[in-house]
Amino acid sequence: MSKVALITGGTRGIGAAIANKLKTDGFRVVSTYVGKDESAQAYSKQTGIEVIKSDVSYFESCKAAVAEVEKKYGEIEIVVNNAGITKDRFLHKMSPEEWNSVINTNLNSLFNICRNVIEKMRAKGFGRIVSISSINGLKGQVGQTNYSAAKAGIIGFSKALALENANKGITVNVIAPGYVGTDMVKKIDPTILKGIVGQIPVGRLAEPEEIAALASYLVSDKAGFITGATFSINGGQYMQ
Ligand code: CAA
Repeated sequence: MSKVALITGGTRGIGAAIANKLKTDGFRVVSTYVGKDESAQAYSKQTGIEVIKSDVSYFESCKAAVAEVEKKYGEIEIVVNNAGITKDRFLHKMSPEEWNSVINTNLNSLFNICRNVIEKMRAKGFGRIVSISSINGLKGQVGQTNYSAAKAGIIGFSKALALENANKGITVNVIAPGYVGTDMVKKIDPTILKGIVGQIPVGRLAEPEEIAALASYLVSDKAGFITGATFSINGGQYMQ
């Protein structure tokens, strides 16, 4: 039987590319979405990937989504925490809502999802958790105190969870993409974006599929010795 993979925010952008790749790899993939029903259903129809409406910023919503997938397909062995939002603004202008919504969606979501799958992964002795951070969680970015904090938090969370579960066949890793050609990046002011692309040595935005290729490897059986690691895919924009 195919292993079951849950991809949050998996109907657009990087998440959709990862879902598509894992389906090609032979996994039973379920993607979550929170926004537009119509476009999520269109994605599902086009790809054959099942979609579930679930808000990753709420624990109960994640619990329900996990239970629904388990009931239909069995235990979830692969999780890709991809769902994320931006609400860019200088801190001196940022509202509590702009802060909290980004922290809830981009960071608290990891607790909300992982808490609902980790016990069964431990009992089974197998699991793969990959979370999508960002170059801006590593280096910081103007207008992104909320986003950079959440994306940096993903790295600490993943290292701790990797340690807790290293002897249980569960790996926990992070991908930190740079600027990828998705809706999120395309909504940056064109003049600002042009300046950002100018700082990328490779000279272009990444393709979502370039992120998906690494996610595919990290969730594979071959990657059992990789855990607690953070991988940059940023075209040379930031080297640690
Ligand atoms: N570094 C230093 N100073 C900067 C700066 C930068 N990168 N960008 C802007 N500033 C300065 C400006 O020069 C300006 O200074 P003055 O007032 O002295 O002229 C001041 O900051 C205000 O700049 P703006 O006019 O741009 O201010 P704003 O309020 O209209 O917009 C902003 C601020 C929302 C942060 C806007 O600059 C912006 O959108 N920046 C891009 C942020 C970004 O990269 N977001 C990434 C989104 S995609 C993503 O997050 C995916 C991922 O993981 C990579």
